[in-house]
Parts: sequence; structure tokens; C-alpha cells
Amino acid sequence: MRDPAAVYTPPINPADIRGPSQEIYACMGRDNIYRMLEDFYRELGASPIRGMFPDDLTRAAHKSAAFFVQLLGGPPEYSEHFGPPRLRARHMPFQITNEARRQWLACFERVLEHAITGYGFPAQHLTDFRRFLQDFSLWMVNTADGDPSPDPT
Ligand code: HEM
Repeated sequence: MRDPAAVYTPPINPADIRGPSQEIYACMGRDNIYRMLEDFYRELGASPIRGMFPDDLTRAAHKSAAFFVQLLGGPPEYSEHFGPPRLRARHMPFQITNEARRQWLACFERVLEHAITGYGFPAQHLTDFRRFLQDFSLWMVNTADGDPSPDPT
């Protein structure tokens, strides 16, 4: 159990964060979302934050993919298998600093560079999706690293 005093709470209200368009799943389909998350976890696996993630990156990628399926307007795959997302709580076992968040976002950005051609991501929703990742990832930060900027991106 972590010392509650050591937990950093970002100065934001997650309820204010606008979720991505629910049309995205219908455009991409499940397989493309799974491939996108597999590629994202491959990037994480080669990144400075690799040590946070389990050895079996494919399994971890598929768990996240189930979440993104429902986030993007598909069936509630994640909740059916794992229960309510409660993602900030699920990230609590890991010390997530703003620097770790930057690395995480950089990995996602490398994948999103070919989102449209590689996974059929609908171009008109890409800007909002990037914005969602930037905003929602702030909510995962639970450890101060002395970086005062709330949103460096
Ligand atoms: C701020 C940067 C972030 C870092 C460093 C991070 C790191 C992690 C780590 C270490 C895990 C556990 C991997 C495992 O044991 O399988 C995890 C799980 C997960 N992450 Fe993140 N994460 C971040 C942001 C996000 C964001 C913004 C989302 C959603 C948009 C997200 C979605 C998930 C999901 C769905 C899981 C699986 C949760 C579970 O059921 O265990 N993460 N993340």
C-alpha cells in the first residue's frame, strides 16, 4: 500500500474531459483497434517506461484494447470481463509521473502517425482523440516529479 501522502492528485475534474466520438468503433472495427493497441504496446516495450509493464505485452495490449473498443463506441468488452474501468484506481500500483505520462503519450503518438492509413481511424476524429489522450492521461498521474506544468503537450 502506498503512503497516501505521497499520492499526487492532478488539479482537474475527470468529468470535464470529453470522451472520443462514439462513431470511431464503427469506422475502424474491432480488429483494427486491437492492432493499434498491439502496436502501441510494442512501442511501450521499446520505451524508457517498459519496466512498468508486464513481460507479456500482448496480453496487456489486449486488455487495453478491450477498453478502447468500448471507449470508441463498441460493445462493453472491458467491463464485461474486468468490471468497471476505474482507471485512476487501477493505475495506483504504478508510480506515474508527468515524465512517464510524456513517454506514454509519445508512444501513442508514434502509432497515431499512421492511424488513418494503418488502422482506418476516421480522420475527422483524430484531433479530438489526441486531445482526449492528453487530457485523460493527466488523470493517471499519481506521483509528483517536480514538473510544475499541468499539461506540457
Ligand atoms: C499517463 C500515462 C500512463 C501510464 C504510464 C500507464 C501505465 C499503465 C500500466 C503500467 C498498466 C498496467 C499494465 C498491466 O499490468 O497490464 C496500465 C494498464 C492500463 N492502462 Fe494505462 N497508463 C497510462 C495512461 C493510460 C490512459 C490515458 C488510459 C486510457 C485512455 C490507460 C488505459 C489502461 C488500461 C485500460 C489498462 C488495463 C487496466 C487493467 O485492467 O489492469 N492508461 N497502464
